[in-house]
Amino acid sequence: MNLLVIGSGGREHALVWKLAQSPHVTRLWCAPGNAGIAQERLVRNGEPVQCVPIGAEDLPRLLAFAQEQRPDLTVVGPDNPLAMGIVDLFQERGLRIWGPNRRAAQFEASKVFSQQFMEKYGIPTARGAVFTDPAEARKFAVALGGRCAVKADGLALGKGVLICRSVPEAERAIEEVLVKKAFGEAGRRVVIQELLEGVEISLHALCDGTTAKLFPTSQDHKRALDGDQGPNTGGMGTYSPAPFLDEAGLAEARRCILEPWLRGCAAEGIDYRGILYPGIMLTREGPRVLEFNARFGDPETQVYLTRLENDLLELLEASVSGSLGRIELRWKPAASVCVVMASAGYPGSYARGKVITGLDAAAARPDTKVFHAGTAWRDGQIVTNGGRVLGVTALGRDLPSAVAAAYAAVERIHFEGAHYRRDIAARALNVQSP
Ligand code: AMP
Ligand code: GLY
Repeated sequence: MNLLVIGSGGREHALVWKLAQSPHVTRLWCAPGNAGIAQERLVRNGEPVQCVPIGAEDLPRLLAFAQEQRPDLTVVGPDNPLAMGIVDLFQERGLRIWGPNRRAAQFEASKVFSQQFMEKYGIPTARGAVFTDPAEARKFAVALGGRCAVKADGLALGKGVLICRSVPEAERAIEEVLVKKAFGEAGRRVVIQELLEGVEISLHALCDGTTAKLFPTSQDHKRALDGDQGPNTGGMGTYSPAPFLDEAGLAEARRCILEPWLRGCAAEGIDYRGILYPGIMLTREGPRVLEFNARFGDPETQVYLTRLENDLLELLEASVSGSLGRIELRWKPAASVCVVMASAGYPGSYARGKVITGLDAAAARPDTKVFHAGTAWRDGQIVTNGGRVLGVTALGRDLPSAVAAAYAAVERIHFEGAHYRRDIAARALNVQSP
């Protein structure tokens, strides 16, 4: 089969790397890809993966490319093309594509839609309400003592959630979003939620319209600096499994989150085929959904796919065709850890074009895979080309050995200003494993 993967980050490198191992894959394009993706080869025939210089949000050119090359399946990595309706566009033209359609992708693209859906179908989330009127919004925030999350409805480059701990802070947040329109149209409506306390983890479930198969747990580290300090980022590192939710807890999450979600989708006629990625807060009262994402997490994908034993293409095919019920997901009984190496200054402004060395030495280590995110080729060298540059990922028989292996690989890699967290999975190491 010939495949087209859309996207250019670490998540897409992990998807391409895993798909390239499938004996069914004879050709693989990635638009636009990155320097690491361009180095992958197909296990079936040794052919290199071909990067095509078309951006992930350039729907007209992606469609034209797919109409010309006729891939058997297109796999969408990022959220924006999903929210823009790439799945509907391709399907209308008779092209097979994996990912939720525009209506289903609203779980990520609209916080108002998700909040109302969760309330309607009894999915545990934070107490919250939807506002367009700043005065009404303020009243609600004051009633919560100012301890709230103010969320712009639409996609806002991951920056649309403002965490407030006092009334003045909440008033400023409401002013920014609803009055000053800091996020433009995305902030025409806001969801205001009570602030939840607890440990945050990531869940993923692969869905085929009627069935949802839950993955093991993982945890991301969203703040830029050690000890969860500094600004929020796209994610500085992950590991799987996360010991904060044991097998019984995961079964409970399936029962109280996934099952009502599936019932709600059926009742609303939402045909969800793709990954549902709920962000969960483990509170004293049980798991609460903070948000739904309609795609694989980045860098959750890097730890999940290094643990996955199934042929990923077979899973995505089953997700598209509605036959997931017959498939069992199989996971290596190992732990996986991904440490993100970022450019100096990220998530603020940063320089590009710094030469990266030591990639071969890192890759030569056992059970280690260096996924590229913001990288490019320049004059025969691999250089930095983004905020998150690499996702250095290692498997180990348990979490301590996976952590040690990932950091041993990180130490071999150098580029000017490289920044990474030194405490990925540190909290989990202090928890008794279930
Ligand atoms: P979201 O995009 O909705 O996940 O929000 C981004 C981040 O804000 C989450 O990963 C949480 O760390 C935090 N957050 C969102 N909602 C809440 C809430 N109700 N209580 C506490 N933290 C929250
Ligand atoms: N891991 C954070 C995200 O993918 O949104």
